Order: sequence, then C-alpha cells, then structure tokens
Amino acid sequence: MKDAAPTTAPETFYLKDYKPFGFEVEAVELTFKLAPNSTRVLSKIRFSPKKNAADPRFFLHGEALKLISAKIDGAPVTPDLVEGGLSCETPDTPFTWEAEVEIDPAANTALEGLYMSSGMYCTQCEAEGFRKITYYPDRPDVMSTFSVRIEGNETVLLSNGNPTGAGEGWAEWHDPWPKPAYLFALVAGDLVNHPDRFTTRSGKDVELNIWVRPGDEGKCAFGMEALKKSMKWDEDVYGREYDLDIFNIVAVDDFNMGAMENKGLNIFNSSCVLASPETSTDANFERIEAIIAHEYFHNWTGNRITCRDWFQLCLKEGLTVFRDAQFTADMRSEPVKRIEDVIALRARQFPEDNGPLAHPPRPEQFQEINNFYTATVYEKGAEVIGMLKRVVGDDNYAAALDLYFQRHDGQACTIEDWLKVFEDATGRDLSQFKLWYSQAGTPRVQVSEDYADGAYTLTFEQSTPPTPGQPDKAPRVIPLAVGLLSPNGDEVRATDVLELTEAKQSFTFDGLAAKPVPSILREFSAPVILKRETSNAERAFLLAHDTDPFNRWEAGNALATETRVTMVVEGAAPDAAYLDALETLVRDDTLDPAFRALVLSPPSQSEIAQTLHDRGVTPDPQKIYDAAETFAQTLAQQLETSLPRLYAATTVDGPYQPDAHGAGLRALNGRILSLLTRLDGGEQAARQYQAADNMTQQYAALAALMKAENGETQSQAFFDQWQGDRLVMDKWFALQVACAAPETAAAVASKLTDHALFDMKNPNRFRAVMGALAGNHAGFHHASGAGYQLLAENLIALDSLNPQTTARMCAAFQTWKRYDSARQALIRVELERILATEDLSRDTHEMVSRILQG
Ligand code: PHE
Ligand code: ZN
Repeated sequence: MKDAAPTTAPETFYLKDYKPFGFEVEAVELTFKLAPNSTRVLSKIRFSPKKNAADPRFFLHGEALKLISAKIDGAPVTPDLVEGGLSCETPDTPFTWEAEVEIDPAANTALEGLYMSSGMYCTQCEAEGFRKITYYPDRPDVMSTFSVRIEGNETVLLSNGNPTGAGEGWAEWHDPWPKPAYLFALVAGDLVNHPDRFTTRSGKDVELNIWVRPGDEGKCAFGMEALKKSMKWDEDVYGREYDLDIFNIVAVDDFNMGAMENKGLNIFNSSCVLASPETSTDANFERIEAIIAHEYFHNWTGNRITCRDWFQLCLKEGLTVFRDAQFTADMRSEPVKRIEDVIALRARQFPEDNGPLAHPPRPEQFQEINNFYTATVYEKGAEVIGMLKRVVGDDNYAAALDLYFQRHDGQACTIEDWLKVFEDATGRDLSQFKLWYSQAGTPRVQVSEDYADGAYTLTFEQSTPPTPGQPDKAPRVIPLAVGLLSPNGDEVRATDVLELTEAKQSFTFDGLAAKPVPSILREFSAPVILKRETSNAERAFLLAHDTDPFNRWEAGNALATETRVTMVVEGAAPDAAYLDALETLVRDDTLDPAFRALVLSPPSQSEIAQTLHDRGVTPDPQKIYDAAETFAQTLAQQLETSLPRLYAATTVDGPYQPDAHGAGLRALNGRILSLLTRLDGGEQAARQYQAADNMTQQYAALAALMKAENGETQSQAFFDQWQGDRLVMDKWFALQVACAAPETAAAVASKLTDHALFDMKNPNRFRAVMGALAGNHAGFHHASGAGYQLLAENLIALDSLNPQTTARMCAAFQTWKRYDSARQALIRVELERILATEDLSRDTHEMVSRILQG
C-alpha cells in the first residue's frame, strides 16, 4: 500500500492553482463487503455537472485500488486509469456513477484508508486516505451526504451519522450532514462499549459510546466524562449543540496520529482515550481530556464548517486547538495551561519556525499534505487566533464567532472567509494582521527603555529572520500585554495591550514616581522572541513579584536559562541567587503546587542549545547535559534539609483522583523525589515504587531510579507486571531510552529494537523508542554519531511500511545546522542515505529534501 516511488521530482501543489471541482456530488452510497485481504467496495454516486465549470474534467482520485467494474447510469464504462486516479467520459446532465473496487486492508501498514488493527477494521481518511477506499473526488470542498452498508461477521459495524438498520452480518448508516470524504469512517470489530447519554440544551437525547477491545472496558469512564464535559462546554461557551442521535468513539492500537474527528464516529489512538489510575499518569489524563475535547469541538470547527482545500488546514486546526486550550483552562488552571502550552510551543514550534522546515500557518505549497500536520499549523495557528481575540476584544471575538457559524455553516472555507467575519463584526481592517497567516518565522522584538521626569518610554523593534522562500518580512501586528511594577513590588500599571504595527514603535507612560520594572508579553500575548537587556536581579524581582503568573514563571525560566548558559560557556557554578530564589518558591506553600512544579522544571537541553545558537555559540550537547546534571545536583544539595519535609508535604493521601489539584501536587512531589534520589541513592524512590497504587507515582519512582542508574530491579518488576498492556509497555520502552546516559542512549535504543515486544508496525511503539532517542538530546547528538545512524536506519526500514510516521520523525534532524561541523557532517551522511533509498516515499522524500536544503 506504499505510495508510488518518485523517480523524478514529486509533483508540487500550489494554493494559487485552486480550482473548484466541476461537479456537484448529490449523494453517496457505499457498500462494504469486508474481507481481510479482499474487501469489496461498491459505490453509487450521484454527480451533477456544474455550469461554466473552471475545470470540467471528470477525474476521480484512487490509489492502490483494483477496479472490478464501473458504470454510468447503469451502462458499463471503461475509464482511463492513470497515476493517482481515473478519468472518464461523462454525460453533461446529472448521472449516477457506480464502481466496484477491491482493496487489501490486512496488507495496509501505512494506516491510511481502510486497514486492520488488532483484528478490527478501521479507517483513516484525513487528509487523502479516502482515495485508497474507492474512486472519488477526494478533496475537502466536495461535500455530500453518505449512506453506508457494511457486510461483515464482526459483532460491531459502525459508520458515520445515525444507524438506519441492522441484521445478522450487516448494518446500515446514514449521515444527513453533507461532509467531505476525509470525514468518512468505518469500524468493524468484536468490540465492547462503555455507554452513556447526553441531553443537549434543546432537549435532544444523544446516545454516547466508547468502543474498545474486550479487556479495555474498564478504561473508558474518564474519557466518557471528558466527552460530556466537552459537549456541555461547547453549548455554554460557543452556543454549539451536537447534531446527530449518536456519538461514537473507537479506540484503536495502530494509529499514526492522536485521534480523528470523523463525523459522529471519532477514531482514537488508544493512548489518547484509554485511561485508568493504575495504567495512566496525570499527564495522560490531562492529555486525554484535551484530545477528546479537541475532536468533539471539530464537529463545528472542521466538520459543519470545513476547509476549502488543505492549504487552509489551520482554519480548522488552529481554531480547534485554541478552543480545546480554552476548555482545559476552564476545567483546570488557566495559568498552568498557558505555561504548559508555551513550553510545548517553544519545544516543538520554535525549532520548526527557526529551521529548514519553517512554513507559514497557511502554507502556499506542498508535495505531501501529511507533512503539514505541524506544530506551526496547529499550535501557532492557535496562537494567531489568541492574538486575534486579544486585538478585537472578547465581546467582538464572541460576535465574530457567532457570525462565522451563522454565515458559513455547511461550507468549505478559507482563511479569507474567517478574517472577513472578524472584519464585518468589528469594522476593523485586518489586512496587516493577515500576515501572520502568510509569513513564516518567529518575530524578534527588541525592547529598549527610557525614564525621565516621571515618564517611562518603551521602544520596540520587530524583525523576523529569513525563512525558506521568504527572505524579507513586513512588520506584523503584535499585541504585547504589558504591566508596570514599582521598585517596591507593587503594580503601578495594570496590564494594557500595546499593539505594534510598525518596525519600530514607542509607548510612553506618564506620572510615575520612580523608574518602573516592566512586565512585558504577559500571558505570552504573542508568539515572539523578546529581547531585552536586563539583569538577573530584575528577573529575580519579577519571579518574586509579578502579578501575572505566566511572566512570573517566565522570569524563573529566563533565570534558569541564563544560569545554564553561563555554566556551559564560562564553566561557572550555578547562580547562587537563582538557587535561593528557587528555594524560596518551592517552600512557599501559598503558591499553587502545579506552578511550583513548573518553576522547578528546567528548560530542556534542546532549548538551551537553541539559545546558545541564537547567541552565536555552537552548542556542545555533552556540556549542556553536564550543566543540567551539575545544576540539579547543586539544587538537591541546597535543598537537602527541606527535601524530606517537602516530599511528605506534597504526598497526596487517599485514593487517586486525576483532578488538577492532585496532579499539581504529584507533579511537585515527583520533582522533589527526583532531587531526593540524587542524595539518598534511591531509598525513598524504591519505597514509593513499592507502595504506589497509581501509575503517576509508580512511573515517577521508576524514572527517578533509572535516572540514578539504580532501577534494574524495578524496571524488571515493571515489565513483569505490565507486559500484557501495550500502552504501559510503551512507557517502559520510552523510559529506558529517555533515562539513558548520553554515551549509551543509542545502544539502549538499538537493543530495544531487538526486543520481542518491539513492533515497528505499531506507531506508538516505534515512537516510544525512536521518539525517546530523538528526545534524549545529548544521547541523540552524541559525538559518535551512533544516535543519528540508528534513527536513520530505522526510518529507512519504516518508510516502506508507514511513510507518514517515517516522515514526521525525520523532523528530529531539523535542528542540525545548530551544531558543529563534525556533527553536521555526520547528519548529512544520514540524511543523504535516507534520500538515496530506493522507492523512498513521497512523504519522506519531501521532508528530507527540505531539511537538507533549508
Ligand atoms: N485531524 C486530526 C486532529 O487534529 C489529526 C489527524 C490528521 C489525524 C491526519 C489523522 C490523520 O484532530
Ligand atoms: Zn484537530
């Protein structure tokens, strides 16, 4: 089922070439006769030619299909089979197309189209998977109702919409809402369900189900609660109700991504829905709640209003990520969610935006759309909406969203449609704001200040470095939330949003008794890099006094970064003032434990590498690793006398609950345990491992022990206890690589790929090992090159099975230009080796070429 190999350069698709399809699709009827190696798909589609079509050709996409027969209005036809689909002579009046094709779901390891996972049939059609099921105009602006008949021996046969009939060996479904093919789904398996119900605010009774393999039914309750909360929240906050009689979620073990919003039939990677206290960590619970919400929210932002073409992907993804972040902030803690999101943005999106893979949230060209499900489209796409909301204000945002749903329900839209709604609702011209959608790169904002006679002036200069294809950038609209503190720590000016629109701009604040300390970019009001001459003393002041929790954390993060940088560059000892500030914070019981845990979490080693690179210093991964170790060891020693008390004070009593408060306490407790383990040789961690009745504590203890190279016994015990649970085993695989010392990481990962439970075809397992290797900064970038080599070998091996996951994981190499010439040379060899692979997929070909060229 692999994509055809590009012998010549693969075709590039451009936004500017958009042309509507020349036909309306009035209705689709599909019949599936399921068989693992020879499923038959019968399609009956009503087409109606459009008058004056820009492109009148009748072309249906199709890949890896065996055409059995085709008819138009009942008469056999012989279509012209070409690469990627077929074309056919058609009448110029409405007609019925019928086709029968055969496909091989059991051989489909790419996990796109119809495939099998642990004995069940399931589908993944976004972005262009439907063309692997039958011939069809597989593009999001072609929307139609679907009626589906499934014939199979499985006990559960599901598709989109409402059930319309079922009997022994068959079931029928009808989805009344017109949708693009990428939202089609089918599931057939011997599944069990966790049922519930929800009554919408207009009184509609909806049947809810989470379908799982037998044995997993005990892991559905949390996901179901999250679903009901999401349904209620979307009614309360966005006025959006659910629109079918039934909502099904299915968990599958083999899935390339997190989950998929198919209309009425969401399909989830089992890691993103199954949860129990014994097998899932707090972080898993939080993520599951967010993904359930995300997929549910797509019902309006994605399904009822979809994308005109795949260049508009951030129209649905940016907005839906923004909505799920609002939901998590409401369910849990707003500042903690914001800090977590910024940490993730800097870890995943900033490297993309500042490297060879940089692209705008709305790209203008692609070879393989699967390669654009990126942090830029998703997370930066959401940041752009956050800025838009800040610029127009909350009430205008709400009015614009109402107008969006009212005006565009049932349509396939563009970013232009989206912005026009805001312009019409507010009367504001958003043409400059739109640059956020078309320009790549992270803007730098240089801040300087001036104080005289009670007047304080802040001057901002913005610029964005060149990115592939975009050497020069125009100034953007940048909302900067700014507050001012007096030297005694009081806030003298509450948060104001300053709007930058020019390359250089000043703002003056009058009537100040003394030179204030500015708190800039509160709540991280724009995805930019702020540059300002400041001191550690001022950072420590903000860490102690800022009223904005995000900037309070940010001040601590900046201190941590500065300390790390001086340790690496000058071989200095950890900054004593920073250690003192940390000690004060950790012991401050009035502060939210989750916040304290975040302040105690160091910036990642990869981020330090990026900071060094930005300052013109070539990062040495080993030195960065050593600095991190020294810092943690010094902090542990400094806190030595308080650690046991802090450990006890943050231990949560009573039965495990995955709520935000308990999770915050356990996060802090876990940080303290890891410090304690540096001093007590693992005594406390071993006790915690023994006593733990939940995965969060069991995992934290195991991680601390393994990091201390003292976890052999527990690791074996963990394996014995959990070898039957795929999701827990993923943790076991990943943890060994994540905890490995730099010089052994590649060898540990390599050995794990020989383990009986390593399965390259399962994306979760592959990512557990190879993702952890790429995430072990000093291990992956070890001077031997063993990490690069191992990853490349495994990517080459996976490419012929699963191009999508292979291509995504190539991004591990995107930061290569940061490093010294010896490492760059080693990486280049591996990238060129991948590129030279025979029959390399279009997906991987595009990724590796971009990384090499950028
Ligand atoms: N549309 C899915 C989401 O964001 C992600 C996805 C993309 C899943 C492509 C599978 C394939 O929720
Ligand atoms: Zn999404």
